[in-house]
Amino acid sequence: MAQGAAEPAAHKAGFTPPAEREIPAGPMGDVIRQGEQIFLHTAANAKGFVGNSLNCVNCHLDAGRRPDSAPLWGAYVSYPAYRSKTREVDTFASRLRGCFMYSMNGKAPPEGGPVLVALESYAYWLAKGAPTGEKLPGAGYPKVPKPPQAPDIERGRAVFAAKCALCHGVDGQGQRAGDTQVFPPLWGARSFNWGAGMAGVDKAAGFIKANMPFSKGNTLTDQEAWDVAQFMDAQERPQDPRFDGNIASTRKKFHDSEYSLYGQTVNGKLLGQGTPVARR
Ligand code: HEC
Ligand code: HEC
Repeated sequence: MAQGAAEPAAHKAGFTPPAEREIPAGPMGDVIRQGEQIFLHTAANAKGFVGNSLNCVNCHLDAGRRPDSAPLWGAYVSYPAYRSKTREVDTFASRLRGCFMYSMNGKAPPEGGPVLVALESYAYWLAKGAPTGEKLPGAGYPKVPKPPQAPDIERGRAVFAAKCALCHGVDGQGQRAGDTQVFPPLWGARSFNWGAGMAGVDKAAGFIKANMPFSKGNTLTDQEAWDVAQFMDAQERPQDPRFDGNIASTRKKFHDSEYSLYGQTVNGKLLGQGTPVARR
C-alpha cells in the first residue's frame, strides 16, 4: 500500500465494543463505571498507585476502545499469555499491574483490590461477545514495517519539531494548565519510565504511526514514525524500577534489544541515568 494511503484505523477493527450507555444498572454497572473513571483519570481514582501525570487513556485512546491503540477489548481476550518481558505466563490482572509500574511509573495495585477489580470489570464488559484465544484485528499496537533507512534521532528531531511540539511542547514535557495536564509529556519527570513498553522504539513507532499526530493517525510515513520514535526514546525519563544499581547490567538483563536506547550513549550522553520524578 502507498505511504499515507492506509485505511483509517477504525475500518480495521474486527470487533465493536458495546456503547457506554449500555453499561448495566446495579452493582456490576457501578464497578464497570468506576473502572472507566480510573482509566480516564488515573491518579485521581487510583490514589497511591500512580507516579506521573499520565492517564491510561493517553496511550489507549477513546477510553480503551480505539483499535490499534492496544484497546482493552483486544487485550482482555488475549490473556493468560506467555510474555518474554516477565518470562512467565501472565494473567490479565498482572498485565494491568505492569502498566502501573512502568507506563504510570507507580506501584502495582494488589490483586483482588478495588482498583484492579474495577479495571478488570471495565475491560471484561468492553470485550462482551469477543472470541477468546485469537488476536482480533486492531488489538495491540500495529507493527510498522522496518523503514528503508535505520531510524535516526536527528531526522526524528525534525519530525518532532514540525508535527509534535505544537501539543507536546518543544521540550516534550506536554502542556499544563495549573495542575491539569492538557497534553501529556513524552519524556522527563512526569512521563513513563524506562521500563515501559513505550520506551521500546518498535512499540512507540506502532503507536505513533496509527495514532499521532492526534486525530491524524496514519499520516506519517513509516520512516517518520520510526525516526520520531527513536528521537522520543532517546530522551531521559524516570529510572526503570528493576534498576540493579548499574546501567550496563540493567541493560543486559532487561533492555538487550535493538529497540531500546537504555544504556546506549547518544551525543556523548549515557542514557538510562533516570530523571527525578514529579507526580502530578
Ligand atoms: C505511556 C503509555 C501507556 C500508558 C500511560 C498506559 N499504557 Fe498500557 N500499554 C502501553 C504499551 C506500549 C503496551 C504494550 C502494547 C503491545 O505490546 O502491543 C500496553 C499494554 C497494555 C495492556 C495489554 C494490551 C494487549 O493488547 O496485550 C493493557 C491491558 C494495558 N496496557 C492497560 C493499561 C492501563 C490499565 C493503564 C493505566 C493504569 C495503562 N495501560 C497505561 C502503554 C501505556
Ligand atoms: C494536536 C495535538 C497533538 C499532536 C500534534 C501530537 N500529539 Fe501526541 N498526544 C496528544 C494527545 C491529546 C494525547 C493523549 C490522547 C488521549 O488521552 O486521548 C497524545 C498522546 C501521545 C503519546 C502517548 C502518551 C505519552 O505522553 O507518552 C505519545 C507517545 C505521543 N502522543 C506522541 C506524539 C508524537 C511523536 C507526535 C508527532 C508525530 C504527536 N504525539 C503529535 C496530542 C497530540
